[in-house]
Amino acid sequence: MSADIAADVRSGLLSVPKALPPHLFYDDEGSALYERITELPEYYLTRAEREILEAHATEIVALAADGLDGALTIVELGAGSASKTEVLLRALVARQGHGSYVPIDVSPAAIDHARRRLGAVLPEVRVTPLITTHEEALRTLKRHAGPGSLVLFIGSSVGNFEDHEASAILRGVGDALGPGTCLLLGTDLRKSPDVLVRAYDDDAGVTAAFNKNLLRRINRELGGHFDLERFRHVARWNEAASRIEMHLESTVMQEVAIDRLLLCPRFEAGETIHTESSIKYDLPRVRALLGIAGFRLDHTFHDQARRFALHLARAL
Ligand code: AVJ
Repeated sequence: MSADIAADVRSGLLSVPKALPPHLFYDDEGSALYERITELPEYYLTRAEREILEAHATEIVALAADGLDGALTIVELGAGSASKTEVLLRALVARQGHGSYVPIDVSPAAIDHARRRLGAVLPEVRVTPLITTHEEALRTLKRHAGPGSLVLFIGSSVGNFEDHEASAILRGVGDALGPGTCLLLGTDLRKSPDVLVRAYDDDAGVTAAFNKNLLRRINRELGGHFDLERFRHVARWNEAASRIEMHLESTVMQEVAIDRLLLCPRFEAGETIHTESSIKYDLPRVRALLGIAGFRLDHTFHDQARRFALHLARAL
């Protein structure tokens, strides 16, 4: 595990400007902090998406199953704790009496938790987890699912990827499972920068702790000497790219040794490490992204306040 993060941390801290990939957030501590973020009053995303699922799960499952001979299988990229997915799985069982669910995630702890909970509340669902990255999963997916699949890429995870990367991931889904495969894509939407910045810089400081956990993780796993007091959590709105960016800003000029990398990067006062981008979409951008990935957008569902959207699309 640490070997994996070593390469990413090395290249991220040597690049100009410094940047670290957001998947590094999710060790056990980071995953637990993210679960707390989803409950914050300022972080509306999870509640808005759950509201859409609760209002439209039956319709979504019906649309995805339409014209299928056999049973529909639900596949989820980046399943995590899968707590929102339960709403869709209930609709699946209501429709066909039983179901198959293939959660894909890099975190064994999260998947294990999801499997146990689902086993207790929805025994009619057969759960076949794949503990791996998206890219690797796409290679083995064919064995577990086919064109009779509804692939979930929800939670606005897509927002961490540039459009060309997101399209490549989605094209991989279509190529792996074939034409007719259904996709449910969750995207956060453009809105007042004020509301957006607060969602990523909450009063209780949970998002700051989540961001800084990245430095802690480097300290723990790579023998880093980051002093968390000398870095500041920053969330800023980038209008040109339509995204929230999270950074860790060095408050002083400093050099920080990372023993296991034999590296001692220097930080100027005010220099930042860019740790995450969360793109906020409008419909034309989603349509373009899906088009390039080889999908046709069929339906877009919103919450009442139109803060978030779920898009149902089909691989061509
Ligand atoms: C898990 C990628 C959807 O971008 O909103 C939450 C992660 N980062 N607060 C997001 C996150 C800071 C989250 N995603």
